[in-house]
Amino acid sequence: MNYDFDRQIDRRASDSGKWNVYGEEILPMWVADMDFESPAPIVQALHQRADVQVFGYGRPPMKLREVLAERMLTRQNWQIEPDNVSFLPGLVCGLNIICRAIGEPGDGVLVNAPVYMPFLSAPTNQGRELNVAELAHTLVNDNGHQRVRYEIDFDALEAAITPRTRLFILCNPHNPVGRAYTKEELLQIGELCIKHDLVLCSDEIHCDLTMGDTQHISVASLAPEIADRTITLQAPSKTFNIPGLGCSEAFVQNKELRARMDKAAAGIVPHVNLMGYAAGLAAYSDPECEEWRLQLLAYLTANRDFLTDYVDTHLPQVRTTAPDATYLAWLDLREAGVEGNLQTFCLEEAKVAFNNGAAFGQGGEGFVRLNYGCPRATLAEGLDRLRHALG
Ligand SMILES: Cc1ncc(COP(=O)(O)O)c(C=O)c1O
Repeated sequence: MNYDFDRQIDRRASDSGKWNVYGEEILPMWVADMDFESPAPIVQALHQRADVQVFGYGRPPMKLREVLAERMLTRQNWQIEPDNVSFLPGLVCGLNIICRAIGEPGDGVLVNAPVYMPFLSAPTNQGRELNVAELAHTLVNDNGHQRVRYEIDFDALEAAITPRTRLFILCNPHNPVGRAYTKEELLQIGELCIKHDLVLCSDEIHCDLTMGDTQHISVASLAPEIADRTITLQAPSKTFNIPGLGCSEAFVQNKELRARMDKAAAGIVPHVNLMGYAAGLAAYSDPECEEWRLQLLAYLTANRDFLTDYVDTHLPQVRTTAPDATYLAWLDLREAGVEGNLQTFCLEEAKVAFNNGAAFGQGGEGFVRLNYGCPRATLAEGLDRLRHALG
């Protein structure tokens, strides 16, 4: 079966956060969900659940725990028990719980920037101090074209650690810069956390959205001593385009860490809703969903290549990343001659909503994040609008 990712869907009528914040004249390429239908088995599972017509409290299906443990074994060669998996209504909620669970008020939480905004707000929401290390970026040659490529700056990371730092929140693959970190980089991160006795939270929400030869590596799979201090967060939400259903999972082998998370969540964090479990189980267990994912990846890869070609051909004043993973591109507009707030410029002059890079913290000023999880015609339209606005 060939899935039609070119089909344009009117999402304004569906309470979409992405499509309903701005007026009809604005093309939304900001919030990180995709403009594609989810795979049919997920929709069928939701219908089946609705057909029972009773919506009482839920309980994580044992089958879902087993499927997730099996997936970790086959994809990461990491053996975990089904009861090492906990469920959360969202990863942002997970980031906040973890900041609250680890250390004491006033302790430090280490993050790389630029990074997905809740990495910057969760620590301070929970009375922790933010320790920020900027990523390093260089221009690399990609078949004769310059691309922005990011690396972890390990010196900056060490320098940002204070005697009170207790937790490092890693984003892998990294939103917004699109890097899926290599085994060598991840081993170095593991060593750093061991050396400084840091708990490692690895947000891997984009783990199933890698492109080309890139393979996602879960840092906890690399060594038992890393797994022992790591909380791995994943979800079917980005991959299968179901973030509105609020079902995500935490893999935690260390019992004490699990207990600390449970305590921090108690009485505040609601259950995952029934629909989320039904969708998650279908997403992870139905072979048709895997087939859909592979075709999605081919489409997203072609969108990424379309975008980089477009920038090379029509936007000489702009540089972009060529992401290894995610459907998010990070455009460098620092030499595009835009004055004032970039997001406002894009909204008013280009009639496109991108995320303002400055919101992603240190190193984000002068950049915008563009979501290319959309039909190619939509992507082309957004790029044309930017091109005309830049002149
Ligand atoms: C790295 C990362 N973590 C978490 C989230 C959001 O997770 P959730 O919707 O499950 O709260 C996103 C969404 O873009 C993300 O990019």
